[in-house]
Parts: sequence; C-alpha cells; structure tokens
Amino acid sequence: MQHGERDLGDPDRYLTDSRFDRWREWAERDALVWSGPGTSPSGFWSVFSYEGCRQVLAPGTPFSSEYGMMIGFDAWHPDRAGGRMVVVSDGAHHARLRKVMGPFLSRGKAAELLAFVRQEAAALLESAREPGTDVAAVLAPSLPASVVCEILGVPPEDRGMMVELTNHAFAGADNTFDRMTPEEAHSEILFYCHGLIERRRVERGDDIVSVMLHDEGMDPAEVLINCDNLLIGGNETTRHAIAGLFHALSTRPGALDELRAAPDMTHLATEEVLRWTSPAMHVLRTAIQDVTVLGTRVPKGMPVVAWLPAANRDTRVFADADEFVPTRRPNKHLGFGYGPHHCLGAALARLEISAFLDVLAQRVESVALAAEPSRLRSNLVQGYRNLPIDLNWR
Ligand code: HEM
Repeated sequence: MQHGERDLGDPDRYLTDSRFDRWREWAERDALVWSGPGTSPSGFWSVFSYEGCRQVLAPGTPFSSEYGMMIGFDAWHPDRAGGRMVVVSDGAHHARLRKVMGPFLSRGKAAELLAFVRQEAAALLESAREPGTDVAAVLAPSLPASVVCEILGVPPEDRGMMVELTNHAFAGADNTFDRMTPEEAHSEILFYCHGLIERRRVERGDDIVSVMLHDEGMDPAEVLINCDNLLIGGNETTRHAIAGLFHALSTRPGALDELRAAPDMTHLATEEVLRWTSPAMHVLRTAIQDVTVLGTRVPKGMPVVAWLPAANRDTRVFADADEFVPTRRPNKHLGFGYGPHHCLGAALARLEISAFLDVLAQRVESVALAAEPSRLRSNLVQGYRNLPIDLNWR
C-alpha cells in the first residue's frame, strides 16, 4: 500500500463507532472511495450511499458474485467456492440453487418454527437475569444456531453439540477458546455435516440435505458447501442482530412501553433493529466489464464494495438516521442486501428478532447498558465482542 492510501478493509478501523461519521460524510456526497492493496491484493472501490449500493447490487448490472463476495477476492484472486455456493454464484446456476434452498427458509418455514423460536427466546432471556450479563456471549448465539440445525435436519441428540460448536466457530475472528480456535470449531462442524450428508445418501429424509442430494442430484461436495453457506449466513449475522436489539432498546428507554401499547408494531421494530444494527457490514462484487460507478470508470476485474450499514444511515433516505426509531416507516433498509442475492434467510432472521422483542415486551420494563459495548474486530460483520446489559424486570 502506498503511503497515505487508506485500506477500508483493515478490521482495526471497526473497533470504534467513528466509522459512522466517515460513512455519513461519504454517503452524503455519493463518494466512490479507493482502498489501495492491503487486505485486498489488488485494492478495491467502495460505495456508501443508499443509491450507490443499490446501483452496484441491482439485477442486470455488469457485476459478478462468482469471484467472491467479501474483501480479499477479485478477478485475479477468486473464491474457490465460486459457482458452487449460492452466495457466490451467478445466473442460471444461482437461480437454481435459490429455488432448491428457498422453501426450507421461507415464510412458511418460519411460521412452522414460530412456537419453537418463541419458546427458545423466552428460555434464553432467563439467562440474562444476572445484572451485567454479556448478551453478546451468553444469550445471542444459541437461537440462530438452533434454527440452522433445524433447517439442516440435525437430529435432536446432536443439537447441543452443534450449537456449542457453532458458538465457538462464529464468535469472531479475534476470539480463541480454551478448547479450540474458531477455525477448528468450523472444521468440526463441516466434518459433522459431511457425516450428515453421508447418512442422508442412504437414509433419505424430507430435509434440505436429502432434497439437494436426491431430487436435485447435487454432488456431496456441493451440498456441503451450501450447508456451510447456511451455517455462516444463519449464524454470523443473526446473533449480532439479536445482541444489537438490546443495545438499540437501551438507547430508547420507552421503546418497550411503545411495543406493549401497540403489539402490532413488532414488525416495524424488527425492521428498525435490522437497519440500526446492520450486521452484514459489506458485500463485494467484481466488475465483469468496464463500468461507470458514481461518475468514475471502474475497469473490468476490479472489486466494488457496498457498505450496507452506511447506506442504512444515509441521511437522504432515513431521517434521524443514527437514532433507533421502532416505529420508523417506510424503512426500506438494505440490511439483507439488494437484488438477486437478497438474503434467503430473511424470514427466519425476522422471526428470531421479533420473538426476542415480544418476549422482552412481556417480561422486561426497560434495558440499560451495564458498560460500554466492545465492537467485533471485523470488516465483514458489524457486531459485538461484549455487550453487558442490565434488565429491569417487570
Ligand atoms: C444472503 C444478511 C440471516 C442465509 C445475505 C446477504 C445479506 C445477508 C446482506 C446478501 C449477500 C450478497 O449480496 O452477496 C443477513 C442478515 C441476517 C441474515 C443481516 C440476520 C440478521 C440469515 C439466515 C440465513 C441466511 C438466518 C439462513 C438460515 C443466507 C443465504 C444467502 C444470504 C443462503 C445467499 C442468498 C443468495 O446468494 O442468493 N444475507 N442474513 N441469512 N443469507 Fe442472510
């Protein structure tokens, strides 16, 4: 990297909340910002405004996901899962994978899981009775992990182990546990999924793995790669949206009263949690031909990064963008991305967040921070390393 060039991929930049001021300024002037080689071998361009992000992610644009969708990948350094994992596929193959996986993550599936998710959220809230409970570590990770197990058809006897492994695997790149590193835990999960796939090859069920293997004739390696997509997609982001909802509520002491007064407002509050927390920090696309982005020519092969939380606080679209406003309407945030790769798990994520909001409204008067939260050291996930809270119970 040349002297003076910035690298927006440097994870240390995201340890504090100073990002929001920079992002606001860049979004307001529709900036296209260059990052020199560093975290990305060839460097990358960044967009921050709501319209800029939509322009890059919209259907029919000359951008590909197949080279990879996060900082570090480009046309000369492609993701090896490209063309096989749903989130890093394009065109007809991508559409087919969405069609196969979609029904297992649909609103219908979310409706089936409603009672289970509500019960789990209520039980988990009890684990936050102790003042100063770190919700990021203690409470937020389990429900997303249980939901992904449910989707993958993990048998009940293996759930506890899988939830624990998932907690280790997706706690954040800066965390190491006494027993194993996050990478080791992730490998253990993939090893388990490999076994699950082998079992489903002989013992067909009605789960997503069986359908991919038998109805779609996908090879086991491709099935495994897409199980991994669900594990990462379902866990890494949702846990921080759940932790973040406690943070959001702490900024607005009357929010739970508002929810109690109008329970049909939960869906609005859920969208606002997604906008305000925006756990997916960036998505990347690679230009497949020379293209003009926000007035600047981007050559074929170069990556362009869309910073979703910046777009979600674009002051030209969202009034009082830094405030958590549970009744915000309209709220067409980009928290789940935009265009053909719009999050497949959106209905499940919404279900999990709204279940926590409902149970909090029933049982808790207000939420307060017990100490300043510490942020995750990551350029990919906007979340919390620690978030200690005090609940004022009803
Ligand atoms: C895609 C965010 C929860 C599965 C995406 C994308 C975003 C996102 C921004 C688009 C990626 C891109 O454009 O390259 C989130 C957030 C979540 C969440 C913020 C929680 C608050 C989930 C859950 C699951 C899931 C619970 C599944 C259990 C997926 C999958 C894709 C995806 C499979 C790929 C879709 C495609 O490429 O067509 N998610 N996600 N996500 N997400 Fe989520």
